[in-house]
Amino acid sequence: MSNKSRFKDKVVVITGASSGIGRETAIEFAREGAKTVLVSRSREKLDKVAEEIRALNPNVLVVPTDISSPEQVSNMVSDVVSHYGSIDVLFNNAGSSYVGRVEDDNFAENAKKMMDADYFGTVNVTTEVLPIMKRQGSGYIMNMSSVVGKKAFPHFGGYSAAMHAISGFNDALRQEMRGSGINVSIIHPALTQTPLLDNVKPEDMPPPFRRLTPISVETVAKAVLDGVEHNRARIILPFQPRLLFLSDLISARLGDLTVRLLQNKVFSTLLGTYRGSLYHHGVSQ
Ligand SMILES: NC(=O)c1ccc[n+]([C@@H]2O[C@H](COP(=O)([O-])OP(=O)(O)OC[C@H]3O[C@@H](n4cnc5c(N)ncnc54)[C@H](OP(=O)(O)O)[C@@H]3O)[C@@H](O)[C@H]2O)c1
Repeated sequence: MSNKSRFKDKVVVITGASSGIGRETAIEFAREGAKTVLVSRSREKLDKVAEEIRALNPNVLVVPTDISSPEQVSNMVSDVVSHYGSIDVLFNNAGSSYVGRVEDDNFAENAKKMMDADYFGTVNVTTEVLPIMKRQGSGYIMNMSSVVGKKAFPHFGGYSAAMHAISGFNDALRQEMRGSGINVSIIHPALTQTPLLDNVKPEDMPPPFRRLTPISVETVAKAVLDGVEHNRARIILPFQPRLLFLSDLISARLGDLTVRLLQNKVFSTLLGTYRGSLYHHGVSQ
């Protein structure tokens, strides 16, 4: 068992824990003493992560769930409460993505799938967990969005819309929960080295990603744990997307220009968003 204990005996539910950011965050919470609950659709993948976690901390529960199904989510939350008796932290992280233009034939179908899983999945889990946190008089909800949940990128319209929806939901919830003992935060990471876009060819990536060095899952997981510890309402990772959001606030066309400039080697090198390697150079985990 690790001797770090920032989250000792806290019950932490992580959706999308079978892979990428969710997997790494679950491992970090377990290392810090938390009792973790691993949620995603694949039992096989979750069992593998649980095995890794047990080497650090024996308190880990696997609950295979499709978060787009309100019934499965309700059963998952009941299982967690019967097993641990409470839920202290919920990390709404599960999600999928799709790359394509708005004029593609299957755009509406794919956009709906992402709304169902990414946005309504977040809504389903949150609305089931809230009454438990309300009864406890305490709790922490961290929602996963993305940089494109603040400024959309071309060829990423459906995914960006789902990430914007999560951002709106989060901001309303945070204000509604003020004074309730329940804290609500959101994280907007930039492109991260995970399997999320493994099936997208380099030439089909949303244009700014073709000149962007991804951040690591360790960086995102650390920001999530620090965010919960210090109750940071909105985390933007790394620093540079703030400049993009600022330019977009001044003028939509200036924001669009900044997105285009991100594809320029000199600009992105000077800005530090390109540091010599790209998503497809990295090995996803
Ligand atoms: N990678 C990036 O560049 C990046 C940047 C910003 C934000 N994000 C966001 O970060 C989150 C995690 O993504 P990731 O990059 O770590 O990708 P990932 O490695 O592909 O992980 C996605 C996770 O979500 C789970 N999942 C997907 N649909 C689900 C559903 N309907 N019900 C339950 N679980 C579901 C997957 O597990 P199963 O297949 O087992 O269900 C998996 O555990 C996503 O919300 C993504 O939008 C990613």
